[in-house]
Amino acid sequence: MRTVISLGGSVLFGERSAETIEGHASAVERLVDSGHEVAVVVGGGSIAREFIEVGRDLGADEVRLDEIGIDITRVNARLMIEAIGELAHPWPATTYAEAGQALRHGDLPVLGGVAPAQTTDAVSAATAEYVRADLLVYATSVDGVYSGDPHEDATATRFEEIDIDELLEVIASIHMSAGSKSPVDLLAAKIIQRAKLPTIVMDGSDPVAIEQAVRSGAHDGTTVRIEGAPRPPAWDTDG
Ligand code: UTP
Repeated sequence: MRTVISLGGSVLFGERSAETIEGHASAVERLVDSGHEVAVVVGGGSIAREFIEVGRDLGADEVRLDEIGIDITRVNARLMIEAIGELAHPWPATTYAEAGQALRHGDLPVLGGVAPAQTTDAVSAATAEYVRADLLVYATSVDGVYSGDPHEDATATRFEEIDIDELLEVIASIHMSAGSKSPVDLLAAKIIQRAKLPTIVMDGSDPVAIEQAVRSGAHDGTTVRIEGAPRPPAWDTDG
């Protein structure tokens, strides 16, 4: 089974410790060792935000700031590649085609950003679409999709499952409130919808939980339901 795992920058690089990166790399390696095909997309985290802020103070335009963000995600990808070792394609894939080619050659591609005006949420969904992944997992700093912003709204509840159309509505409503951030951005959700990608949004801090979600579909986050999407094959055989 082929899975794209999106590792949020704050999950992986929040502490900037080799141990955290090793832990996530080991989970990915175990999946590959047991026959799974995996592509990993890593985010920029607070380091990207800090660099972007300095660039903004220097007067850089938004596209250039995005390019700075992309560079940082690729540096993060290099650390992940070091942690994964020989199973990984040896440098960050910079296009979806390069990621697809690495998979065809039996390597595990690691990507950061790909192009300005998006985030690695969209990169993850587009990679999953490109390589025809059976599953897309967002391992993030939030533990799923909520009916509102849990930091702002005490009555917001977490969905165990959500239809893609409803997810799009939730994201649109979160975008309306300043400062709030949705667990998956709008472009990513649109790609998930058109590609009919089975998707999980979950807390990414525990690598074993991510591994379990890929193997069996068991997790404490949110499953995005899409009519007509096939069930990931390992969920009936692995675990
Ligand atoms: P992230 O994907 O980490 O952004 O990429 P984010 O969603 O803002 O970060 P989190 O989830 O809160 O940690 C970092 C930055 O890199 C640029 C964007 O500026 C983004 O904010 N980027 C990333 C791109 O322009 N294109 C890409 O394909 C990826």
